[in-house]
Amino acid sequence: MSKTIQIAIDGPAGAGKSTVAKALAAKLGYIYIDTGAMYRAITLIMLENDIALTDEERISDILKTVKITFGDSMPDGRQKVYCNAVDCTEKIRSPEVSRHVSEVSALPIVRRALVDKQRQIAGENNVIMDGRDIGTVVLPHAQHKFFLTATLEERTRRRSEEMRNAGMAMDFDVLKSEIAQRDEKDSQRIDSPLKAADDAVLIDTSKMSLDEVIENLFSRI
Ligand code: DC
Repeated sequence: MSKTIQIAIDGPAGAGKSTVAKALAAKLGYIYIDTGAMYRAITLIMLENDIALTDEERISDILKTVKITFGDSMPDGRQKVYCNAVDCTEKIRSPEVSRHVSEVSALPIVRRALVDKQRQIAGENNVIMDGRDIGTVVLPHAQHKFFLTATLEERTRRRSEEMRNAGMAMDFDVLKSEIAQRDEKDSQRIDSPLKAADDAVLIDTSKMSLDEVIENLFSRI
């Protein structure tokens, strides 16, 4: 058992993980780590440098040298993300990155490097970490594990609103089918798929307000 407090929040895209994790981290004074942002940052760098999924050498170079850091929250609540000290907050959320991130995050070489990094942060700080494999693989001994779900319709509605607020509005049905495809890929991959840990508390947030979800988790912690 680690000396730090670790809280794992997993679930599919748009289940409300990041908003809830961020709010809980602020309430508890813990560090919030958005692991999806880390996979997105690697995807962005690979796209910008035209690196193929099969080019292990160049991917390995990136993984060894890249510095992904998190900054303060912005007025809309989102956390700033920096790739090698350059603000990449907007770019990592682009539809282009969203379309490729599942393939990149299925690569064992990428997962190994990012999981190491995530464990290191969690070994040194009290953390709330959100992702797909936090309770199962990254922090199997986390003191609290939650798995948030919601219907595909509701998750699309939330993502759609988020994207509109970020000035990246997308057609609802296109977004819905992209989210469904991403969930499918994330759940079917061989290396640490999207899955609830056996000891995770499952919460369907479809009909809950954000405050209700936060309160629910907070009371259990
Ligand atoms: O949380 P998000 O939608 O920003 O995550 C983007 C992608 O990153 C997601 O489709 C799968 C991948 N991911 C992962 O494989 N493991 C994690 N712990 C977090 C995200």
